[in-house]
Amino acid sequence: MEKTGLGRTGLSVSVAGLGCGGHSRLGLGTGGSPRHAVSVVSAALDAGINFIDTARVYGTEDIVGQAIAGRRDQVVISTKLPVVQPGTSALGAQHVPAADSIASVEDSLQRLGTDHIDILHLHGVVASQYEYCLNELVPAMQQLQQQGKIRFLGLTERFIFDPQHSMLTRALQDDCWDVFMVGFNLINQSARQRILQKTADKNIGVLNMFAVRRALSRPEALLQLIAEMADNELIDATRFDLRDPLGFLLDDSDADTIVEAAYRFCRHQRGVDVVLTGTGNTGHLNENAAAIQKGPLPGPCVARLQELFGGIDSVSGN
Ligand SMILES: NC(=O)c1ccc[n+]([C@@H]2O[C@H](COP(=O)([O-])OP(=O)(O)OC[C@H]3O[C@@H](n4cnc5c(N)ncnc54)[C@H](OP(=O)(O)O)[C@@H]3O)[C@@H](O)[C@H]2O)c1
Repeated sequence: MEKTGLGRTGLSVSVAGLGCGGHSRLGLGTGGSPRHAVSVVSAALDAGINFIDTARVYGTEDIVGQAIAGRRDQVVISTKLPVVQPGTSALGAQHVPAADSIASVEDSLQRLGTDHIDILHLHGVVASQYEYCLNELVPAMQQLQQQGKIRFLGLTERFIFDPQHSMLTRALQDDCWDVFMVGFNLINQSARQRILQKTADKNIGVLNMFAVRRALSRPEALLQLIAEMADNELIDATRFDLRDPLGFLLDDSDADTIVEAAYRFCRHQRGVDVVLTGTGNTGHLNENAAAIQKGPLPGPCVARLQELFGGIDSVSGN
């Protein structure tokens, strides 16, 4: 598995990262057993993936802990702190007090079976929550950093509600962030100009989420999204085959599937370090790890995707 540097962290990470959340949550989200979920993480490690992203709210920290037992030094662990109280609106203002955040990190360390977390993110932050995060939670995270319990500070956006990246755009003004998790895919490419050029300038590591999601993994979801985008005049319907809107990617490249093309599109975007793949299926995991290590899509395919979708910043592909 190819490795790369993760911005200023200096960590050496696999270009494919295993996401333990999203719709699949290692298969727990679709009825899989915890034992199966552990086997998905183990398969990722066996495939050479050393970057594992989890979160308290995914319910997968303990699964990761079981899978990495005895292999902790081979793995870069990324996990997250919620910023709003459990049971309240994720977009709301009932923030988690800093003292509770610190206590929850102790729980995460226990579940993960480790004495340190490599990257601790604030999870799914929207612009209205950012000042609270900066003023109250970042100092608490820095305290944990001084104690050696976390190594680097990360920030993830709530891409479904903020597909324009307004929160991360604000966060770029501050120097405390080592890593961002950014929504980017072939349908919403707006992070390219707004975030990825600037993270590269500031040497902030970038994790790419939403590379595939539902819209690019389920043909019926893609047809529905394209039809809605055409109805809302976000795209020019006359430029698509509405029965097979991305068929040209398979006709004009060596990609075997739209999923493969979607991961490759993200992997070769300048400024992206790790492409996360979220799956509960080991067959998908191995296909995706292989796709992420393949070469870029041909230039004309990438140019056509930029022409067709380059102006989109209001959908996530969820
Ligand atoms: N704000 C945040 O902090 C935030 C939000 C979202 C996600 N994340 C992180 O990002 C990670 C990636 O999540 P994502 O949802 O963006 O993942 P993704 O890789 O873009 O999409 C995953 C979806 O695609 C399906 N899929 C994957 N490979 C496939 C294949 N080869 N063929 C057909 N279907 C396939 C999966 O179903 P199967 O299980 O059937 O493969 C799953 O439904 C998450 O796990 C999480 O760690 C963070």
